[in-house]
Amino acid sequence: MLEILGAAIWFILPAYVANAAPVVLGGGAPIDGGRKFRDGRPIFGPGKTIRGFLAGLVAGTVMGIIQSLATGNFTLIAVGFLLALGALVGDLFGSFVKRRLNIPRGGAAPVLDQLGFAIFAILFSSPLVFPGWDVTITVLIITAPIHLATNLGGYLLKMKDRPY
Ligand code: CTP
Ligand code: MG
Repeated sequence: MLEILGAAIWFILPAYVANAAPVVLGGGAPIDGGRKFRDGRPIFGPGKTIRGFLAGLVAGTVMGIIQSLATGNFTLIAVGFLLALGALVGDLFGSFVKRRLNIPRGGAAPVLDQLGFAIFAILFSSPLVFPGWDVTITVLIITAPIHLATNLGGYLLKMKDRPY
């Protein structure tokens, strides 16, 4: 039980790092360039920036490098990169869906906000690794509470202006 929990956190760690890094390192020009979709609302909105995306990609990949050095398994570098890329694309997808549903930047979309990035991360890394159903399901169970807890922490540390 504890072993699966540990394996799940270890596996998905690059995605968590990629998801958290933009909160600290993001900002600046938005990925969508401020452009609107055909419904007249932003494509992704101003919360999705180029710098945040790149920072997340680098930070998640660095986490994969650390994991590969810790284990001697150098595939984990590529896995870390794919988990990070998936997390960031999933986050963009989430914002795209939120804008289509007319939820403003920073507005809450339960489940999508907390879990979308992790599902995309697992899908993106799946050509290289499948961590097993036990680990996959554990990731899906633990990600939302961990995400909410870190967001609350970021809010209390005044790094985020919303507690979710
Ligand atoms: N961020 C960024 N670039 C990204 C992703 C996130 O700069 N690619 C930064 C932004 O400052 C953003 C913050 O991280 O406000 C928190 O990310 P998130 O909660 O995903 O964005 P929201 O502001 O809530 O926007 P949305 O409603 O589109 O999810
Ligand atoms: Mg948000």
